[in-house]
Amino acid sequence: MSSKSGQWCRAADMSKCRSCRAPAVIDLPRHNAHFCAEHLEQLCRRQFRRAVDDFAMFSHDDTILVAVSGGKDSLALWDMLATEGYSTVGLYIGLGIGRYSDESHDVVAAFAADRGLELRTVDLRTEHGFDVPTAARVTARVPCSSCGLSKRHIFDEVARDGGFDVVVTGHNLDDEAAVLFGNALRWDVEYLRRQAPVLPARGRFPRKAKPLVRLTEREMAAWCVIRGIDYVVEECPMAIGNRHHTYKEALAVVEATSPGTTAAFYLGFLDRMAPLLATTADEEPVELCRSCGAPSGSSDGVCAFCRLAERASTATPVPVEMVLSRGARRRYIEQWGDAPATEGDTDGRP
Ligand code: AMP
Ligand code: FES
Ligand code: ZN
Ligand code: ZN
Repeated sequence: MSSKSGQWCRAADMSKCRSCRAPAVIDLPRHNAHFCAEHLEQLCRRQFRRAVDDFAMFSHDDTILVAVSGGKDSLALWDMLATEGYSTVGLYIGLGIGRYSDESHDVVAAFAADRGLELRTVDLRTEHGFDVPTAARVTARVPCSSCGLSKRHIFDEVARDGGFDVVVTGHNLDDEAAVLFGNALRWDVEYLRRQAPVLPARGRFPRKAKPLVRLTEREMAAWCVIRGIDYVVEECPMAIGNRHHTYKEALAVVEATSPGTTAAFYLGFLDRMAPLLATTADEEPVELCRSCGAPSGSSDGVCAFCRLAERASTATPVPVEMVLSRGARRRYIEQWGDAPATEGDTDGRP
């Protein structure tokens, strides 16, 4: 099963906290130091505040929509925002990824209920007639592409309809460094240009911010342990083995021998490279989708999400097991229990 806390926080033997000399609970090689629970929490809050302030992400007057997946990062983020006195509402999107999605929803709902926080849930199949496994089969593309498209569309829609000032996500330093690495390997200048920790509101698109960009995956896992937050430990079964994971693993190899490289790579990009890429060109006027009213950016007047929904909602629903590769399916069954009868291996392809 999932949603266990504890496995990420490596106790640091007899080492002492850099700040107070109490027994340490974690070593952070990039800071060349150990920390006790109290001072790790302080360090995380300091890095969070620095990101929020440096990039003018939001203020205490803003209403914040927090996208929560049930994983450690977004739950830690919601906890940080709420305990720092921000006005927040959580948003969970049910992507229809079998028991992984069911469990994620339960974990997010329990987190919100325990802390008296408001949670909104949008279920892709109930509200838009399809789910991510079916979309992956229909489009014959990697699941993450229809998943990402659907999440972005729903974040925007809920923020617009609810009058939120900003949408925040739990992308951390390791996530952003891996995306940067991939973009740089392809020299995808357009993506590099848009890889900012905050994107201003544009027309009907709300402002978007990533307040955890100065914090690593391991620090966020430790935060959850210290703060008693239950989270879904398992990764999305459909994303296992994708390119993003490969980039993360490659950076982890470098980080293991040269601690601090990941932070220097990403934060150095923001500091020294991103300003050179910033464009001064006027934004194009945005066409609105004639189906949902969202900005469409396409010549046929229908946004990519509505096009996807039109195709996927008429297809026979496909259970997640059917679109996993053999190895991923084996892991899925180990983690989440036995699957219904399958059509045979598909290697993730329709
Ligand atoms: P991922 O793309 O899975 O790495 O997730 C990045 C961020 O997107 C998370 O930290 C959340 O803020 C948000 N997110 C991912 N999945 C969901 C979901 N099902 N519902 C709401 N937000 C999500
Ligand atoms: Fe999007 Fe897994 S979370 S494909
Ligand atoms: Zn201490
Ligand atoms: Zn649309």
